[in-house]
Amino acid sequence: MIRLTAHSTDDTRGIAQAIAKLVRAGDMIVLIGEMGSGKTTFSQHFAHALGVTEPVTSPTFNLLHNYSGSRLKLHHADLYRLERTGELDDLGLTDLQEAGGVMLVEWGDVVGDALGTGLVLKLAAPENADSEDSVTVRQIEIDWRGMQWETRWDKLRTSLDAWTTS
Ligand SMILES: Nc1ncnc2c1ncn2[C@@H]1O[C@H](COP(=O)(O)OP(=O)(O)OP(=O)(O)O)[C@@H](O)[C@H]1O
Ligand SMILES: [Mg+2]
Repeated sequence: MIRLTAHSTDDTRGIAQAIAKLVRAGDMIVLIGEMGSGKTTFSQHFAHALGVTEPVTSPTFNLLHNYSGSRLKLHHADLYRLERTGELDDLGLTDLQEAGGVMLVEWGDVVGDALGTGLVLKLAAPENADSEDSVTVRQIEIDWRGMQWETRWDKLRTSLDAWTTS
């Protein structure tokens, strides 16, 4: 696991850019964290880092937004409002992933591990966010499921060095 501290949205952008550099066709990135922890903010920076030029908005109501980056297609989902597990199949994420899109899924934990293998990011605001400075602090834990990130893990760790929690 890689444990990071983002002191500001600038740090979150740097982290998103570092991950975007290593992403490949068909990758799944699962974002977990309470409301306001920064999943959509991360997604916006991640999308821009992939070369998406249009505004990236929260897919809370329609569950899925599709974008074209310069190198890859990006599919941004938010499962918060998923009411039946059958709805996950209706979204057709597997087909989009198999077609080589990069999947970025907020509230991915709502469906357990049904999203399969991929990078898992857990975002959290510190519990004792009492001082004004700490309002923009986020802890980000990165882990992976399956094999796809194993060969990229060392590179990922190195590129995230600046934000790694000691
Ligand atoms: N370091 C940081 N990283 C990310 N967001 C931050 C950070 N510091 C402050 N913020 C602010 O926190 C808010 C995070 O909101 P965001 O919509 O990204 O959260 P979310 O996890 O997607 O919430 P929801 O579950 O409701 O969709 C934004 O207003 C953002 O500007
Ligand atoms: Mg969101």
